[in-house]
Amino acid sequence: MSGDAYKVADQIAAYQESALIGTAVEVGLPNLLYGSPHNLEGITASLGTDPRGTMGLLAGLVTFGLVERDGETFSLTANGELLADEHPDSIAMISRKEWFFYKLWAEMPAAVRTGHTQTRAWRDRLENDPDQAHDFLRALDDLCRLYGGDLPELAGLENGGRLLDVGGGAGSHAANLVKAVDGLEATVLDLPGAEPVLEERHPGLAFVAGDIDQPRFGRPEGEEWDYVLVSNILHDHPAEENERIVREAAGLLAPGGTLVIYEWVIDEGRTSPPGVASFTPMMVIENEGGWTWTEKEIGEWLRAAGLEPQPISQGPGPIAVVKATQP
Ligand SMILES: C[S@@+](CC[C@H](N)C(=O)[O-])C[C@H]1O[C@@H](n2cnc3c(N)ncnc32)[C@H](O)[C@@H]1O
Repeated sequence: MSGDAYKVADQIAAYQESALIGTAVEVGLPNLLYGSPHNLEGITASLGTDPRGTMGLLAGLVTFGLVERDGETFSLTANGELLADEHPDSIAMISRKEWFFYKLWAEMPAAVRTGHTQTRAWRDRLENDPDQAHDFLRALDDLCRLYGGDLPELAGLENGGRLLDVGGGAGSHAANLVKAVDGLEATVLDLPGAEPVLEERHPGLAFVAGDIDQPRFGRPEGEEWDYVLVSNILHDHPAEENERIVREAAGLLAPGGTLVIYEWVIDEGRTSPPGVASFTPMMVIENEGGWTWTEKEIGEWLRAAGLEPQPISQGPGPIAVVKATQP
């Protein structure tokens, strides 16, 4: 059996496409060209870039179908327009998030050799590099707009009530649930530095500053919630931390209340489904102890917290729901 050298060579060079898209957004090209085609001279004058470098960038973006050339004029294609911040369905923030990780992934050999993250802890990033951290949270909100619409159906919440979205960030998933379930009121709990992004993206939601690392996440004794949502949190933490997080989340539930875990759940062999398997190395490099967890592992944490997990609810997307109710 001989391998497909062309396919592998393409995989080796695939970074160039990501790099050029990231570069275009970094230098501000899509924002400049959005609704305003320019010639090369106009582009370099506006962006303060080098003509040869800029022409190289444009040439690559034309081959990737993001820019088109008509005579001396360069404009965005419909796909290229999605990279402009002013586009109503902009995914420029996703590009900024991935540009951060693009640079980090050059350290993947160290992550693989040592098993340790190669970036600063999130709390440090949020406190000391808030612009980048806020763009990250905005990107998660945009990713939820693209891919996260399945949560309300997977969660199947039948009654309204009070929901606490733990580590809810921009509030994207809580906002989707509030829209879908009559009488549901949501409060987002996150580190204080996340609040400005929630106010910008989902101002109708309530925010409380809290800390997943603290008992009851910092919520007072006696406070009870009908629902606690733990969305995209467990993959950021090692197993022993997750056992504690799930126990604290369960402790916030009213009798009969429901814990909803929305998470990238990996199969037992840890190589499928593909969307979850390919997400796993990102967790290894991004978070100390970051990992994707199996339904069995999540079920064990839920049982240890005194809850009985329901069977996993998985749609066509990679993120699934595991629900459990407080007796
Ligand atoms: C991967 S994001 C998930 C955001 C959101 N739940 C979602 O599903 O898109 C992790 C979230 O946890 C928050 N977070 C991280 N550490 C935290 C802590 N110690 N206490 C509270 N929130 C924290 C981050 O600010 C961020 O909003």
